[in-house]
Amino acid sequence: MKFGSYVSFPFGAVIRLFPPKLRFKLIKSLLSALVVPMLNLITAAAVVLLVLSLQKSSLQDCHLCFLLYYPGNNVNPVVVAVLILAVSTLARHMTEWFFLSQSRSMVQEISKILFLRLTDKYLSIPWLEFARRGRAQCMKNCTITSDQASHSFAVLLDLFRNTASMLLLTMGIFIQAPLLGLGILVMVSGALLLIRWLLKPKLLAASTEQNEKIENLHKCLAHTFDASREVRVYKSKQALLEPLQSNLMHLARARVNLATLPNISWMLFDGGITLLICAAVLGSVAFNDPGKQVTLLANLGMMIVIGGALVPSVNNFLSGIARLPELSVSIDIITRELDSPDHDAMWQKVVVDLQTRPRLLQLKDVSFAYPDHPPIFQGANLDVYCGDRIALLGPSGSGKSTLLMLAAGLTSPSSGRIYIQECDAVAYVPQETVLLDDTILANILFGLDLVDEADIWSVLANVHLDSLVRHLPHGIATVTGDNGVRLSGGQRQRLGIARALYRKPRLLLLDEATSALDSQTEAKVMDAIIRSTDIGAVVFVTHRMKAAEKASSFFNIQHGKLNQVADGGCAA
Ligand SMILES: Nc1ncnc2c1ncn2[C@@H]1O[C@H](COP(=O)(O)OP(=O)(O)O)[C@@H](O)[C@H]1O
Ligand SMILES: [Mg+2]
Repeated sequence: MKFGSYVSFPFGAVIRLFPPKLRFKLIKSLLSALVVPMLNLITAAAVVLLVLSLQKSSLQDCHLCFLLYYPGNNVNPVVVAVLILAVSTLARHMTEWFFLSQSRSMVQEISKILFLRLTDKYLSIPWLEFARRGRAQCMKNCTITSDQASHSFAVLLDLFRNTASMLLLTMGIFIQAPLLGLGILVMVSGALLLIRWLLKPKLLAASTEQNEKIENLHKCLAHTFDASREVRVYKSKQALLEPLQSNLMHLARARVNLATLPNISWMLFDGGITLLICAAVLGSVAFNDPGKQVTLLANLGMMIVIGGALVPSVNNFLSGIARLPELSVSIDIITRELDSPDHDAMWQKVVVDLQTRPRLLQLKDVSFAYPDHPPIFQGANLDVYCGDRIALLGPSGSGKSTLLMLAAGLTSPSSGRIYIQECDAVAYVPQETVLLDDTILANILFGLDLVDEADIWSVLANVHLDSLVRHLPHGIATVTGDNGVRLSGGQRQRLGIARALYRKPRLLLLDEATSALDSQTEAKVMDAIIRSTDIGAVVFVTHRMKAAEKASSFFNIQHGKLNQVADGGCAA
């Protein structure tokens, strides 16, 4: 059986997650992790040598002392011991510091890389997949889970250092007192078995519960804060706090288990070793063998010296092993998320068209159903040519937003084909505009570079926001607040449209993008959009007759069918 499955840890996944550019940091960490236990052993040998030399005892029985000193040469063993002790202690502390700084900076780098890779992934997976997970879960995975997963590297490196330390020091004890060395190995194996059979399932369950509850807490907090105005008005604070309390209670229980259970293995080891030493002392007293008692006492003395370094190594080794099941849950989540398939191009390039007006978008026999839901529409056909101004009408829930999402390439049809002429030239304004907590300018640029400020003012004029922005204390540098909280609903919507217009799209898709405007402003904004020569074609969803009237053609979705209608008369 592989060690990974023995302790329930996906070592293969960890290796795959490791960023290759950090391999030199890893090598430096591993090397310093090996040097520390060697220096520990040298320090312990120097202490034993010093004590025995000061007592003027014979060094013949001290096999460990032979690592540093051969009796019979002219150098004073006390001087040798003191010098080695001083140098090795200093070197050990410096190496330990080097190990910590290398390994911890590596872990921080990994955490940063995982955070960015995961965020990038969530922006690349199909939109419906993102919607299924939900914002809160994605945020939790990008922050807490990626942090926990990167922390696995610190735990693994510590484990490597402690394993090396434990083995080397046990070897030192083995040289001096083979039975004691063997006893330590037996006890460590016993503690490992305990972790495998007793603790692993409990730790895995606690870690899964911890992850689940943190996810729930994020979800609860997200919707509670999103609805904070309604919560105040409807006085529903208590009802929304209750699930938080129950989640926190379960989370606390899982965390207590994760913090306490790993200690059981150490307690078993510690108790076992103490019993072993007591049995050895009692045995030697019972047999009344003075020779054996002297050796035992010498060995006990050495145990105290080496034990000073061995005890923390074994303790950290066992608690590191016991933490692996907990960390494996985060590693599994991160690898699963990073392995999930990206959003494929939903569109295909439009068929070469010899007509004078180029076809920008074509929906051919498109049917769509949300996963595990009945179809929204079937066999939909739509041709959008340059210059078209199409109003998409239909009752609420008929599938207008879904159709625009398909046209925007956010999701793929269940059957049929969607052809697009230039996928980089599509702009889409959803029903709810989301603004960045940034300046008006940044909200319009939305990642593009500013070439000419006049273009910004031109799109602001098209959406009738120019005079408002001009009167703001910081103009286009005014910060809009969390999701545009400092703007009205209509102003937010118009900023969303300005963002789309700034891109001079070949195809502009507007999903009830002017629903929060008064009819006069809506008419002006729609006029500017319809007349704009910078835009190839516009497809817009509206429930307002006045806005619909501006279209050049009308399509209606009802009962799962998309039909062209003569005029906007069915807009209601
Ligand atoms: N993510 C989703 N999962 C399942 N059903 C959905 C999802 N989004 C929308 N729907 C359903 O699809 C139907 C069409 O929705 P939508 O396109 O938003 O309608 P419209 O924009 O015409 O009001 C509705 O019945 C709605 O309940
Ligand atoms: Mg809609």
